[in-house]
Amino acid sequence: AIDIRSLLKDTGHITLDRGFMNTASCFSSITYLDGDKGILNYRGYSIEDLAANCSFVEVSYLILHGELPNYQELEHFRHDMNRFALLHEDMIHFFDHFPPNASPMSILSTTINSLHNFYPEMTAKTDPYGGISVTTARLLAKVRTIAAFSYKKSNGYPLVYPSHKLNYCENFLNMMFDRPNIPYEIKPEVTAALNKLLILHADHEQNCSTSTVRLVGSAQVNLYASISAGVSALWGPLHGGANQAVIEMLEEIHESGDDYNYYIEKAKDKNDPFRLAGFGHRVYKTFDPRARIIKEACHEMLASMNVHDPLLDIAFELEERVLRDDYFISRNLYPNVDFYSGIIYRAMGIPTDMFTVMFALGRLPGWIAQWTEMHADPNTKIGRPRQIYTGYKQRAFVPMYER
Ligand code: ACO
Repeated sequence: AIDIRSLLKDTGHITLDRGFMNTASCFSSITYLDGDKGILNYRGYSIEDLAANCSFVEVSYLILHGELPNYQELEHFRHDMNRFALLHEDMIHFFDHFPPNASPMSILSTTINSLHNFYPEMTAKTDPYGGISVTTARLLAKVRTIAAFSYKKSNGYPLVYPSHKLNYCENFLNMMFDRPNIPYEIKPEVTAALNKLLILHADHEQNCSTSTVRLVGSAQVNLYASISAGVSALWGPLHGGANQAVIEMLEEIHESGDDYNYYIEKAKDKNDPFRLAGFGHRVYKTFDPRARIIKEACHEMLASMNVHDPLLDIAFELEERVLRDDYFISRNLYPNVDFYSGIIYRAMGIPTDMFTVMFALGRLPGWIAQWTEMHADPNTKIGRPRQIYTGYKQRAFVPMYER
């Protein structure tokens, strides 16, 4: 066993904070989060108000610029989403060269990274309306196209290009689902649910992927490479990958003949690495406020589409049982944002391996705003944690013939 006390004595004034449980890495004025009360506000506005009243493009503007846009500013920003939506024709070929079962998350992070080669300008060219840089607008508009193209690639259907006539969410759904001879029918309830989901994912202060974007960006690497690193961090099942893990777990429970107890006991067993996906959060010690809104949206959308998904019943029942169980109560484990989002995506027809891509699409304005805020702060330093060294300090070299 490691004798931490003696190691710390040797190390001097270094704090050991595994997983950054209690260490702030920056000042930020983007997102306010109170994990005990279950409050989440972007730039001071509650996510409840924003999700009920705004479009995702409007909230993106708020997060990026600090203020809600007026009519003119919003129109201009919307126009940018259309103006920059197309990809350079040479980039379209990228999608032909991934293997047939390529993960859409890997396609997303690779392609975002290479945007730098096609759109290298990184200076903040502000426009007269809102001061959002061309690079930012470009990234927001193009990532939506890349996400939809990565899906088309995975199912072998021809790419559908963005349309100037559709709004941000409609455009995405159309690029995903419109097929030769099977035109996609835009349903307002689906578009509204997608809009809400993207808003609820738009920022979440210094989570794992955002901290990655900041850390990579602190070396002054370009925005595209920093966002690409954030996408990779989000991929993990303990972070954004949990929405996919939730659906897989609910399906397993369904196939087991609804044996809830088996899965709950398995999650409580300390000798088993299994955890209930979609429960628990580093910061929320009560209900994740996003989960409440998504649960309601899930109800509304399925009812308006007249869809009955047995996984929703399983999710409700599992939640009820977990909230009555002492193990979960004593550890403050509540449903998080990922618990119900997958059920909505399923009803929209979005396949499981695209769920985390959807999360990335929503989180993009937050990542960009955090990266920009970091660079605007003159006191920013390159991120460089220290360590407590536990290995040999010095050894005599052993030549090859003696090893
Ligand atoms: N199922 C069973 N037990 C759990 C769960 C869970 N989902 N989550 C936490 N616990 C237990 C841990 O085993 C630990 O128990 P112990 O005190 O007896 O050792 C205790 O609760 C605290 O858990 P930690 O892992 O220390 O909490 P941490 O803050 O490091 O982790 C995390 C948070 C990663 C979200 C965790 O709750 C988890 O793994 N959840 C499942 C995955 C998930 O849903 N991730 C999405 C998070 S939201 C997001 O990223 C968008």
